Order: sequence, then structure tokens, then C-alpha cells
Amino acid sequence: MFITFEGIDGSGKSTQARLLAEHLRAKGHEVVLTREPGGSPGAEEIRRLVLEGDPDRWSAETEILLFTAARRDHLERVIEPALAAGRIVISDRFADSTRMYQGLSRGDLRATVDTLHALMIGREPDLTYVIDMDPELGLARARGRQGSEERFEDFGAELQRKMRAGFLSLAAEFAGRCRVIDGTRAPEKVAADVAAIADRALA
Ligand code: ADP
Ligand code: TYD
Repeated sequence: MFITFEGIDGSGKSTQARLLAEHLRAKGHEVVLTREPGGSPGAEEIRRLVLEGDPDRWSAETEILLFTAARRDHLERVIEPALAAGRIVISDRFADSTRMYQGLSRGDLRATVDTLHALMIGREPDLTYVIDMDPELGLARARGRQGSEERFEDFGAELQRKMRAGFLSLAAEFAGRCRVIDGTRAPEKVAADVAAIADRALA
């Protein structure tokens, strides 16, 4: 079972991915918790290139290549071996993030993203949580972490608003695997919904 968390910056994906991993491990499952961009040593090197520096450091087209290169390494070295060994893989972001951030943020490049995805990745999650959140609140939470990985946060609130709308329509487009979760509530309330959905999917 391959599970992903998607949503705007600061929506609580990392928190919920960790809580779901704890929940499933407590029930006896073997879980690999991972993230994108990154998740393998090579992909973590690419992560630094894409998340640090000026917002205009890379064009959207170059980013599609960089994120897809990172994903391919992550898929080959971490995700596919774990799934083949019967483990549950939980990834904090995956290809839907490229569909949104590179596909929508600076013009309509969704078809390019999908073509490269089909060519180089060709795998979709079994279950995707789309954590929905007010964009201003998400940005405030994300900025509260105060790291150096702020390249996308520096695109500002307008990008976050566009991404929120994009993720909601993506959830409708892939209704078979996507579940929209209200992320504005307390973490343990959100986690209870997330766990119930995973338990049903695994039953
Ligand atoms: P993401 O991975 O989507 O960027 P995080 O899980 O890192 O989100 O959460 C961003 C910040 O908001 C963190 O400081 C985290 O502790 C906090 N946070 C996460 N979930 C909640 C919640 N439900 N309510 C309030 N704060 C939260
Ligand atoms: P992440 O570390 O998940 O940030 P956050 O915790 O703030 O949500 O991801 C960093 C940024 O990378 C985020 O702003 C979204 C962006 N991103 C893309 O633009 N394309 C992608 O394919 C991925 C995986 C992430």
C-alpha cells in the first residue's frame, strides 16, 4: 500500500504523515515514512537545489526536470523496494505536488508534467490525503518553522491560494484515491480521520 499526503505548505502533512506511521506501526504494520523532494540520498541533494535560494532561480520547466529526477531516484531506491517487501510506504508529497506547483504556478504546464510522469514515474499512490487549509494560515504556520527551505513560501499568499484551489480540483479529478481532510482542526482530530480512512482501506 502506497499512501501520500498532499496540500499547501503548512497544512500539516508532515505532522499527519508521522502520526499515521505511528498508528499503523502500533497495529503491527511495517511502515516506511518518507518525503519529497528527497527521501533518498541523491534526491535529498536535489532537494537543496530546488528549495533554497531565490524564487526565480529555476524556471518551471527546469523544476519539472529536477523534481522528476529526484522522484525517479526516490522511487527506484526507496519506494519500490519497500512495496516489493510488503511494507506500507507513506510519503509526505509525491507527483501531485509537481502537477500543482510546476503544472499550475507559472502558466499551464500540466500536460508537460503528465507526459514526463508517464515516461519516468508511471506510478500513482493507492491512497492520497489532500489536507485542505486556509492559505494564509498555512503560510503563517510554514513560516513559523523558520528554516532555509523557503523558496516556494517566498512566492507568497497568491501562490498558496492557487495551490489550494488546484489541490481541491485534483482531488475531484482523482476521486478514486483522494480523500480531502479539513486541516484547520486540532492535530489529533485530523489524525483520527486520517487513521479511520487508512484502517478502512487496509481492511
Ligand atoms: P506541512 O508538512 O504541511 O508543511 P507541518 O506538519 O510541518 O505541515 O506543520 C506546519 C506547522 O504547523 C508545524 O509547526 C506544526 O507543528 C504545526 N501544525 C501542524 N498541524 C497542526 C494543527 N492541526 N493545528 C495547529 N498547528 C499545526
Ligand atoms: P515540503 O518540504 O513538503 O514543504 P512544506 O512542509 O512547506 O509543505 O516541500 C517543499 C516545497 O517544495 C513546497 O513548497 C512544495 C514544493 N514542491 C514542488 O514545487 N514540486 C514538487 O514536486 C514537490 C514534491 C514539492
